[in-house]
Amino acid sequence: MAVRGKYLLNQFQKFKLINFINTHPLRHLNKNRTISSFVKTRSHTCGELREDHVGKSVVLCGWLQYKRFDQFILLRDWQGITQVLIPSEKQQELKPLISSLPLESVLQIKGTVEYRPTNQKNKKLPTGDIEVKLTDLQLLNSCRSQLPFQLKKFHEVKESLRMEYRYLDIRTEKMQHNLRLRSKMVMKMREFLCNKNGFVDVETPTLFRRTPGGAQEFIVPTHYPGKFYSLPQSPQQFKQLLMVGGIDRYFQIAKCYRDEGSKPDRQPEFTQVDIEMSFVDMEDVMSLTEQLLAAAWPDMKDKLSPPFPRLSFNKAMTLYGTDKPDVRFGFELKDVSSSLQNSGVHIFNNVFSFPDSSVQAIVVDQAAKYFTKKDLLSLQEFSQVEGSVSTNFCLIKVGEESRHWQSSISKYLQPQVKEHLCKQLSVKPSDLILLVGGQGHQPHLLLGKLRLQCANILESKGVKVRDPDTFQFLWIYNFPLFVPKEEVGKLEAAHHPFTAPLPEDLELLYTHPEKVKGQHYDLVLNGNEIGGGSIRIHSTEEQKFVLEKILKEDCSQLQHLLTALNSGCPPHGGIALGLDRLLAIICQEPSIRDVIAFPKSHDGKDLMSKAPAPISVEDQNYYYIQTKNKLP
Ligand code: AMO
Repeated sequence: MAVRGKYLLNQFQKFKLINFINTHPLRHLNKNRTISSFVKTRSHTCGELREDHVGKSVVLCGWLQYKRFDQFILLRDWQGITQVLIPSEKQQELKPLISSLPLESVLQIKGTVEYRPTNQKNKKLPTGDIEVKLTDLQLLNSCRSQLPFQLKKFHEVKESLRMEYRYLDIRTEKMQHNLRLRSKMVMKMREFLCNKNGFVDVETPTLFRRTPGGAQEFIVPTHYPGKFYSLPQSPQQFKQLLMVGGIDRYFQIAKCYRDEGSKPDRQPEFTQVDIEMSFVDMEDVMSLTEQLLAAAWPDMKDKLSPPFPRLSFNKAMTLYGTDKPDVRFGFELKDVSSSLQNSGVHIFNNVFSFPDSSVQAIVVDQAAKYFTKKDLLSLQEFSQVEGSVSTNFCLIKVGEESRHWQSSISKYLQPQVKEHLCKQLSVKPSDLILLVGGQGHQPHLLLGKLRLQCANILESKGVKVRDPDTFQFLWIYNFPLFVPKEEVGKLEAAHHPFTAPLPEDLELLYTHPEKVKGQHYDLVLNGNEIGGGSIRIHSTEEQKFVLEKILKEDCSQLQHLLTALNSGCPPHGGIALGLDRLLAIICQEPSIRDVIAFPKSHDGKDLMSKAPAPISVEDQNYYYIQTKNKLP
């Protein structure tokens, strides 16, 4: 009763409602109905009607997109736009009403489909050959007169405003397309996995415990003093436990949470297509992933043709200076140490005094003419910000002749050194050469980033470097199992601590863990990591050794997993695809925010509801929370 009472109107509210209805501009359009009495559904969508429908009586529902001379209105829904003709006999009656109607109001239109006069046909609109001659119009809900932004196709709207009024932004053609494509792809994935390949869709908890390693987790307070849940950064442990439980083919469209800085390809809350299989090797998982993507690939794109190419981690670093190379374009790295060692070129002199040093180069073909002084300076500055103290960077602009070089090192270059470099790099007139010297992978990493910077600069000048309609999938494999931590002498897992070593490297695990390669594979698409997975450790002893002895983690927090591995755990492996990243690339969106219905802003906030938000003192007490600083 208490709940129902909430909705009973008091005398004043009743008076206001009756007054509203009696004074509404459209009150006499259909006097038998109140504004909220919508019952009958639509007969067609607004994008559906064609010449074949001429003569038919139809009912359309949609948003008022546009009004023209009080003679036409354009009605829109996600499928398209239909022109509605207000017949001359109704114009006098409806003119004041229609002119007062705010755009984006929700209407129901009844009428008859007619041919448009030949000179009024609109070839750009799929419904452009017809119009609906209005017989009845009902206002289902009036829109407020000033929306924060217009929903026109090419109307530039600040992203923060789009986020604040996301429900309006979702009405745009772009968001409708992206969300509907996402839904279709997920449906095809479910169809492929569950119906065709025997996978079981299992939901796993999102209230879990804090576990060691990996990304920073969000914690959830509880009313147990000093005890917290943690939101899982992925269902990794659960999917392994499902293998122990005999669900030998698991998948889930899983929500994951990571409290890390936001970037265009990163959200604190994101979605994975999470997969795990028993009794498989790397080949099985990679091949299944390829088939899954081919099956779910949008019909309007060129079909995928697996198997996807593969590149070892070392080769990727050597050729592209990154473990997620965009192989749609060249500018590959070349080692020019042999030309420059003992060459007397001042800036590389001291590079070679350190062990494991090299000078790497890329040639940006025929690009010199596009790079202004400002662009070259920006590359110089970029290399200072992104490089380390021990990396040295230099640029060479090749003139109309391939031997005519403009560079700070020109005067130090002996003719034979220049000749050697020209041959090694196949230098042509108008090329731009970038050189970086340093230790280990440092020159590769910096050149890998500079390679992308050069592509960005060229594209900003209208040169096509990366074709957005090409989808270049690539597997990267043979990763090191562990990488050095910032703290000297310590190691961390390159993927996660559950990844198994290559069988041939198992012995090294106990002697030289830094040399071990893992059974880990990443899937890269156009320079973005869209998936990662591995074959897992299924022996308790091996897992305990990795956690305790190599990663120096507290095993007690993972006791449940260690016990499970010892309870008849089958060999297993899997992968997780970043669904948001995959969709953003397919939809050619620069940010994953554009393929998520309600994303967080770049600083991880919900601009619509203003979350995260303060909680009351009562709630703080209930959860035993004391805030250290005064809340803003
Ligand atoms: P990993 O951490 O590599 O592996 O994540 C898998 C994929 O998830 C996507 N991704 C993200 N997408 C958006 N925002 C983020 N913050 C974000 N972080 C990751 C990426 C990435 O490739 N449990 C393992 C998988 C496994 O081993 O099976 C895991 O989560 O596309």
